[in-house]
Amino acid sequence: MVSPKDFVGRDVLSILDFNREELDYIMDVADEVERNMDAYRGLLSGKTMAILFFEPSTRTRLSFEAAMKKLGGLTLDMGEPTRASIEKGETLTDTIRVVQNYADLIVLRHPKEGAAKLAAEVADIPVINGGSGAEEHPTQAMLDLYTIRRCKKRIDGLRIGILGDLKYGRTTHSLAYALSNYDVKLYLVSPELLRMRREVLRHISGRIEVQELESIDQVLPELDVLYVTRIQKERFVDESEYLKVKGSYRVTIDTLSKMKKDAIIMHPLPRVDEIAIEVDSTPNAVYFKQVYYGLLTRMSIISLVLGALSGK
Ligand code: NCD
Repeated sequence: MVSPKDFVGRDVLSILDFNREELDYIMDVADEVERNMDAYRGLLSGKTMAILFFEPSTRTRLSFEAAMKKLGGLTLDMGEPTRASIEKGETLTDTIRVVQNYADLIVLRHPKEGAAKLAAEVADIPVINGGSGAEEHPTQAMLDLYTIRRCKKRIDGLRIGILGDLKYGRTTHSLAYALSNYDVKLYLVSPELLRMRREVLRHISGRIEVQELESIDQVLPELDVLYVTRIQKERFVDESEYLKVKGSYRVTIDTLSKMKKDAIIMHPLPRVDEIAIEVDSTPNAVYFKQVYYGLLTRMSIISLVLGALSGK
């Protein structure tokens, strides 16, 4: 049996650090947060979260900040790295050693893979990985799972397609790992150049049924969930490689017409052009609801890690 005590003081570096029971528990707490918002309002009063983002972000940064504030805690945001001492040559580890004196929890986003792990090795307080290069984005996967559970009422038994940049898209890596805890069939759909990272594929294909495809068309009628991602232009080493795949897939009303009536379309956002705007107003589009579920999920994970629920 999972208990809130199991989460206290833990880092959230990779989704692989959490088993199915723990993921289910985090989602149960997210349900509870929504049902009982008033009881959670002052839960983290006196606690501080440091937000260190070395890469652009709208949702993740604001969502962590909103989650912390709704729980009555404070946030300290380093702001643009160009304004911080990093510009003077300060190392990440020195920044972490300094910041941990001001906070109870660090949320870090960094362009380098392994950055969150390094930060956690140095820090005496928990570190949450808010995105580490092209590697992982574990809290996004938690909120993606939660969105599926909320919209489809279950995760087991579903057929799920992940479409887009499976090579550089960190959310797709964390989500694929997370889904491999459940009884799902996963279709990984991408241009050849952007196929799923081999290490992720190796891990998940030992656990669930996985099929790699270059086109979504033939599986559309089967899907319960279609998770779409943008091409991660900024991570391409070579611009000409990017141009080869740019605009190679797009979800439109025509795509929806080939899918089950109650299939859902998800996206971690930001969207560029891979989902037509016309899809937004259909009941299938849940990517803006996903943002709300993200807030509940982050309120859950922060409360658990900071031990605010373990007295219950
Ligand atoms: C994603 C990210 O930063 O990896 N955004 C997010 O956190 N919701 C997806 C992306 O940038 O494409």
